[in-house]
Amino acid sequence: MPNTRALHKRPEPEHVAIIMDGNGRWATRRGLPRLAGHKRGVERVREVVQACPDLGVTHLTLYAFSTENWKRSSAEVNGLMRLFRWYIRKESAKLVEAGVRLRFIGMRERLSKDLQVMMTQIEELTAENDKLSLTVAIDYGGRDEILRGMKRMVEARDAGDFDIADLDEASFGTFLDTDGLPDPDLVLRTSGEVRISNYLLWQAAYAEYEFLDICWPDFTGEVLADCIANYGQRDRRFGAVAG
Ligand code: IPE
Ligand code: IPE
Ligand code: MG
Repeated sequence: MPNTRALHKRPEPEHVAIIMDGNGRWATRRGLPRLAGHKRGVERVREVVQACPDLGVTHLTLYAFSTENWKRSSAEVNGLMRLFRWYIRKESAKLVEAGVRLRFIGMRERLSKDLQVMMTQIEELTAENDKLSLTVAIDYGGRDEILRGMKRMVEARDAGDFDIADLDEASFGTFLDTDGLPDPDLVLRTSGEVRISNYLLWQAAYAEYEFLDICWPDFTGEVLADCIANYGQRDRRFGAVAG
C-alpha cells in the first residue's frame, strides 16, 4: 500500500483539539458551585483562541458538551446551555474582528431551538473568516458522529449521489461533521484524566496526545505554547520508519 501520508515535519500543529475538562473540580476545590467553574472555563476560551494564530495553529477544536453530558443534573445542563448562549452573544463581534470562523459539530437537534438558531447565525456571520478556524463540539460524541455519517452515506447512495465503490477514508470523511477540516495533529486534555471520552474517534486516529494535570480554568496561552513546544519534539512516523 502506498504511503500517502507524508511524514509530518512541521514543528507546530496545524490543528489542536482540546478536551476542556476539570471545571467542576476546579470550582469544588475552591468551595464554589460547579457552574462557577464552567463560567471560568468559558472565559478561558478567549485567551486560547487569541493565542493560536501566533503559535501557528490554524484550526482549534474544543469539546464543550458530550453526548454523555446529558446524564448530569438538569441544573448543570441548563447552566451550561446558558453559558453557550452567553459565549455566542458576547464573543460574536470579537470573533468577526479577529477573523475567526466558528463552526459547531455534534447532533444539534436535542439543543433548544433558540440556541440552534444562534449557532447557525454565528456560523453564517463568520463563514468568510480565515485567520483561525474554531470548531466547538456540542452534544458531540465520536461514535454518534460516525453513525450519523454512515446514515448520510447510505442516504446519498440511495439518492444515487454516492457509489459504494468510491468508499474510502477520504470519501467517508466527507459525511462526518468535520468535513473540510484537517485531522487534529495534537489532542490535549486537562484535569488529569487519561481518556478520550468519545472525542474525535475517527479524526484523531493518528494524533499526538498530551494529558495535563491542571484543570481547564487554569489553562492559559502560555500552557498552550508549552504543549506546542512539546509537540515539536515528537517524531510522527505514521507507521513508517524514521528517516
Ligand atoms: C468539563 O468539566 C466541562 C464539561 C464536561 C461540560 P467537568 O464538568 O467535567 O469538570 P470535572 O471533570 O467534573 O471536574
Ligand atoms: C469530556 O469530559 C467532555 C467534555 C470536556 C465536554 P467529561 O468530564 O464529560 O468526561 P468523563 O466523564 O471524565 O469521561
Ligand atoms: Mg469532567
